[in-house]
Amino acid sequence: MPEQPSPAASSPTTTESRGRARQSAIYRDGVLGRRPAVPTDFAELERRARKASSAKAWAYVAGGAGEGQTMRNNRAAFDRWAIVPRMAHGQATRDLSVTLLGSTLPTPLLLAPVGAGQLIDPDCDLHVARAAAATGVPYIFTNQGGTPMEETAAAMDGAPHWMQLYWSTDEALVDSLIGRAEASGAEALVVTLDTTLLGWRPQDLNLGSLPFAQGKGIGQYTSDPRFREIVAERIAAAKRLGTSADVQVTLGAIKSLLSITRQHPGSFWTNLRSAAPRASVETFLDIYSNPGLSWSHLETLRERTRLPIVLKGILHPDDARRAVELGVDAIVVSNHGGRQVDRSIASLDALIAVREAIGPDPTVLFDSGIRTGADVFVALAHGADACLLGRPYMYGLAVGGQQGVEEVIANIVAELDLTMGLTGATHASAISPDLVTPNPSR
Ligand code: FNR
Repeated sequence: MPEQPSPAASSPTTTESRGRARQSAIYRDGVLGRRPAVPTDFAELERRARKASSAKAWAYVAGGAGEGQTMRNNRAAFDRWAIVPRMAHGQATRDLSVTLLGSTLPTPLLLAPVGAGQLIDPDCDLHVARAAAATGVPYIFTNQGGTPMEETAAAMDGAPHWMQLYWSTDEALVDSLIGRAEASGAEALVVTLDTTLLGWRPQDLNLGSLPFAQGKGIGQYTSDPRFREIVAERIAAAKRLGTSADVQVTLGAIKSLLSITRQHPGSFWTNLRSAAPRASVETFLDIYSNPGLSWSHLETLRERTRLPIVLKGILHPDDARRAVELGVDAIVVSNHGGRQVDRSIASLDALIAVREAIGPDPTVLFDSGIRTGADVFVALAHGADACLLGRPYMYGLAVGGQQGVEEVIANIVAELDLTMGLTGATHASAISPDLVTPNPSR
């Protein structure tokens, strides 16, 4: 990609004209015969991202659980609401900032944790980190990154990031990951609750493709001292017992071995002679998540970290109440982008029920199904304090690298700003619920 100014950085810092600035930049370029590198609507963005991705990458990133009903539910729930713009409101300026966990964010957006992005780009985490830093949108690092969190944090040069954790069956590994998150400057710890097991994902299953089995998306683990200790113990135990698993020599097995060897930290040739790369993959698959995760585990969190605690994956109002009783700092209403349980409640429907159950005060983030600025508007009107952007930014990465991520963010922010300007909403932190109504056209 040629060097271009960051679309967000080139926008004025005052938020009142973000939408117009983005439009003007695109139309001005159009006069010179240039088109935006990244499509400005989601359907075309998705088509272009699919073209730019391998079959396995597309299956993993775009795919969902079962027959995809939860993904469709996420979108259908938005279609059931309509925005009702107000006229002659006299409001020429908007403030898109929100305050979250004591920090002010320039827009009500964060980048969701998205694992195994190496399928799209070997340096996915670094590109996304730099795009997040350039646009001022906090990046929630995935536990399933390809790059160790310390390196990704360094790429952000002090811009805000949070760290997401999957609760391992090894409690010392949980502590080690939390300690590294704190040391790397994470501003919050996001514990994802909905992936104690991997959902049934036919797109990946049909290709027999799991990125982690190729050594992709396990960089936070292979860089972790406690994880490496567990791997070393397992290798030593296997040697003592003389139990190294036999692998059939097929072309696929050789390709997988090469991929695992390449992904492992250190030199390829040293790795090729070592048992550690393969043992790391096997160890990861055994221990990365705890199917027995319970509220009693979560109760221990407060003593284990000084970071604000965010629970991601809440859908049921009772779970939301329980989280509030536990005293967590925020929850994320999310169904993991429809990747875990098929025929699950739409995330937007869950948001409405959760807000009703816990009232206006607890901090609630919304995730799963955000595609446009108008979607963000609707989620905020239903009481979300901010929204997580997931697949759209990965599609931007597939189409245009770091610049592509920045453009996707800039486009969504621009549309949100224009939607607010055209409806009379002055503050993203207080979008009035009566600006939305059940969609009479549905
Ligand atoms: C995810 N998601 C996710 N969540 C998480 O807590 N840790 C993770 O490692 C991942 N990995 C991951 C990979 C891919 C390819 C996708 C698409 C999603 C879920 C993510 O954080 C977010 O909840 C969803 O992306 C939201 O759905 P939409 O809006 O992207 O459809």
